[in-house]
Amino acid sequence: MIGFGGDYTPEQWDPETWAEDDALMRRAHVTNVTVGVFSWATLEPEPGRYDFGWLDATLDRLHRNGVGVTLATPTASPPPWFTLAHPDAMPVTADGVRLTHGSRDTYCAAAPAYRAAALRVTSELAARYGSHPVVTRWHIHNEFGSLCWCSHSAEAFRRWLRCRYDLASLNEAWCTAFWSQRYSSWEQILPPRATQYLHNPGQLLDFKRFWSDELLAAYTEQRDSIRGYSGAPITTNFMLPSWQNLDLWRWSREVDVVSVDHYLSSVDGLEGHADIAFAADRARSFNGGRPWVLMEQAASTARVDGVLAHRAPGRIVLDSLAYVARGADDVLFFQWRASRGGAEMYHSALVPHAGADSRIYAEAVELGETLERIGSVAGAMVSADVAILYDADSWWALETRSLPSDHLVYLDQVRAAHRALWQAGVTTDFAPVDGDLSRYRLVVAPLVYVMSEGAAETLRSYVRGGGHLLVTFFSGIVDSSHRVYLGGYPGALRDILGVRVEEFHPLPPGGTVSLDDGSAGTSWSERLRVEGASVIASYAGGWPAITRHSYGAGTAWYVSTQLWSASFLADVLRSAGVEPVVAALPAGVDAVRRGAHLFVFNHLDEPVKIPAAGTDLLTGRVASGAFAVPPGGAAIIREAKRPPALPPTAACSRSGQSPTGDR
Ligand code: GLA
Repeated sequence: MIGFGGDYTPEQWDPETWAEDDALMRRAHVTNVTVGVFSWATLEPEPGRYDFGWLDATLDRLHRNGVGVTLATPTASPPPWFTLAHPDAMPVTADGVRLTHGSRDTYCAAAPAYRAAALRVTSELAARYGSHPVVTRWHIHNEFGSLCWCSHSAEAFRRWLRCRYDLASLNEAWCTAFWSQRYSSWEQILPPRATQYLHNPGQLLDFKRFWSDELLAAYTEQRDSIRGYSGAPITTNFMLPSWQNLDLWRWSREVDVVSVDHYLSSVDGLEGHADIAFAADRARSFNGGRPWVLMEQAASTARVDGVLAHRAPGRIVLDSLAYVARGADDVLFFQWRASRGGAEMYHSALVPHAGADSRIYAEAVELGETLERIGSVAGAMVSADVAILYDADSWWALETRSLPSDHLVYLDQVRAAHRALWQAGVTTDFAPVDGDLSRYRLVVAPLVYVMSEGAAETLRSYVRGGGHLLVTFFSGIVDSSHRVYLGGYPGALRDILGVRVEEFHPLPPGGTVSLDDGSAGTSWSERLRVEGASVIASYAGGWPAITRHSYGAGTAWYVSTQLWSASFLADVLRSAGVEPVVAALPAGVDAVRRGAHLFVFNHLDEPVKIPAAGTDLLTGRVASGAFAVPPGGAAIIREAKRPPALPPTAACSRSGQSPTGDR
């Protein structure tokens, strides 16, 4: 079964609306709703006095209605009484402003009073509902990620540092000889609060790591409390935005199933699917390749340039199927019913302000029916031969000011790498820099700026053992303390890549640099010498730009500017023996294989023929040679015969079969 539903807030509504909700959920084939996010003030109206009556009634009602519940802990929004009782637990910004209640997420997660109150309400909830049969999953907090620079944060930061350093090694790691920053006692160490000019890069990076771990501790203590009362899976919803305060690889190890929230930034169909693929491939990878939960998406709208924009009719279904294609076993929304007031009253919902007599609710019904029809997909795995390295340390370190370019955005570079592979029709996983890469034929390392010696060794043994590695500029430059590897860039990877870089020549916004193969790079260029690598393309001035190096049994490519040329990528894929999901698909057609099911999305204005044999789960059509997928439509073909599995080794090129190139 594929789960379908969304955030449900009965505390905002009256009994008449609850009765309507029951009927509308049945009609839409809703299977699961998330209850209780942000309901702390309703659950605990005064310190230590709980009101569970409304929640008892809600859970019993949903149970009678056949709808499962993802029960959330309400700790992302402490009630106003909490602020007044514990002003010290209110967060302080980097420039010293103490915030107060009036929105949500207003607490310092390192403040003992907050942690105690959060754990208390969670334990009460778990004790009461731990064995309620309607609770199928627990959802802790909401989108962990709020940071703080207060004195509780300072104390916790020092505790975290003391587990990793003594004062001498901290001074060494943070290069405190620069600008007279040497620390002679722990009390001198503060969060990186507002200061006169640039911060210490090592301190900034450690502060981000500390907060990821501190928030994780806040999560795990709630999780462990719930675990004492319930055997249901426990998760928290990861946000996949353009900023990130969590090391999601580390976090993913602590949840029973990865769930993510994903909001489209564009309502354009093709752009939307590129974005969905980018989010869904990460979610699946965080969950070790296993099916994952789409905990939230918007029912219809995106906010584009400050205005609400609706997805075109039909896209709620089509976009939801795109998440399923890449491993989602639950398609949930924010939210079930649009709020009448409050900060997000104009956020779209499956039941909009207009009510059930609306296009959006009709599409919700269609989606519920569709997901029921394709239930056999649930549990199936998506496999990929290519992995992109994804690294929180590099993301965080690249946010430091005064790097060689102010215009390098980590996520944009990772997205560009994913997009190029997506356009080549190749399914891609993500992997941590120190993970097991042996099952991949090709590993792509875009802007992996921070590289520990351990991570470099992982890449070394991957390539030595026959793997194919594609590295892009400004990778392997600094160690895990944000200190440059000396002797020529990229110090951590010089031997694998067979190159040595003496100077960076980043380009201004809009600047380009010409290559002798007729292509042009943006963002970056370098003075690069080969030391064993062969040159694939050079800058117009003669310096090498793109190189290839045989290392052990494998091959390592280096691209020293921003350039995703389809023909170069096709060469790399061919050499690594990577094939697209369906050969020679036209641009604008997206195909993914999930277990025995081939998902095809046609974004073109004309039908497209897909060579496949089996049954289309969406239409019931059976074909033995080819399926015509309508313009703007999809097919989910349960294949009669799975194609033979590819051999597990990385290095082999198959003559006579070529990737699709630029589609
Ligand atoms: C996030 C939150 C929800 C809601 C939505 C609105 O994902 O988890 O509570 O605020 O954003 O887009």
